[in-house]
Amino acid sequence: MCDLSDKVAIVTGGATLIGQKVVEALHGAGAKVTVGDVNAADGQALADRLGDGVTFLETDVTDDAQLSRLVDTTVERYGGVDILVNMAAVYLDEGLETSREDWLKALDVNVVAGAIATALVAPHMEARGGGAVVNFSSISAKVAQPLFFVYSTTKGAIAELTRVEAIRLAPKGIRVNSVSPGWTWSNPIRDMSGGDRAFVDRIGGALHMLGRIGDPEEVANAVVFLCSDQASFITGTDLAVDGGYSALGPEQMGQPLEELLARMEAGS
Ligand SMILES: NC(=O)c1ccc[n+]([C@@H]2O[C@H](COP(=O)([O-])OP(=O)(O)OC[C@H]3O[C@@H](n4cnc5c(N)ncnc54)[C@H](O)[C@@H]3O)[C@@H](O)[C@H]2O)c1
Repeated sequence: MCDLSDKVAIVTGGATLIGQKVVEALHGAGAKVTVGDVNAADGQALADRLGDGVTFLETDVTDDAQLSRLVDTTVERYGGVDILVNMAAVYLDEGLETSREDWLKALDVNVVAGAIATALVAPHMEARGGGAVVNFSSISAKVAQPLFFVYSTTKGAIAELTRVEAIRLAPKGIRVNSVSPGWTWSNPIRDMSGGDRAFVDRIGGALHMLGRIGDPEEVANAVVFLCSDQASFITGTDLAVDGGYSALGPEQMGQPLEELLARMEAGS
């Protein structure tokens, strides 16, 4: 449905599992893609696997010179930039005990780098008549979660960054949106669970209306949609790809509610 033929995309953080599916989906829709990530082994393997039209460049997004090289090389190789996906992230998080150094690093990778990358690609997008930026936010941006503190704060900042970028870049024909995935089968979740998808679906399933965690391909589909002309009147907004996580209130499927329903059915 989404045709990205003749489009050129940059994906930061594209070496990880979700990133690989995003790159595959953009490439599958016809786009040329440059991937920037500090993980050179997985990034290069991805480019080798997908072949023509996918380039990997080892890039630390906190380094302005490396970000500029990512953009300039893309323009030289593929003729311009139409799409930017800001996905690189770190999970540095010690809650209230987090050091200033870790706070600044997390903000740098998760928030500031995406803002700088967007500023760098904007003139190239404008030269081609417009473009699309997709920032990676998260369900963590919207609610308090016991496991996250710094990470959630950075993802909340991305939600507002998306809105202010959208208003600044609309006159240039550039749309800016974010996606907020729920729990998604990914490198961190795979590693945390020892690769046990059924276990994660059981634990995470109770938190998502659809009763399971998401697949990285499902996040990638949403990114491709937002990058395509199918989303031509969508900017400044967030697309939840979370199986209903963010629409659930405290009344989730679980023991207390089931006990109440059982009593009601028993008429007591
Ligand atoms: N896993 C989930 O369930 C989930 C849920 C919501 C949102 N997300 C978002 O999806 C994206 C991918 O996350 P993930 O969970 O797969 O984590 P991940 O750690 O596997 O992926 C992050 C990627 O960013 C790269 N990266 C880190 N620092 C970098 C730097 N300085 N320069 C360039 N690249 C750098 C890493 O090498 C990695 O490839 C993130 O933006 C994350 O917030 C993930």
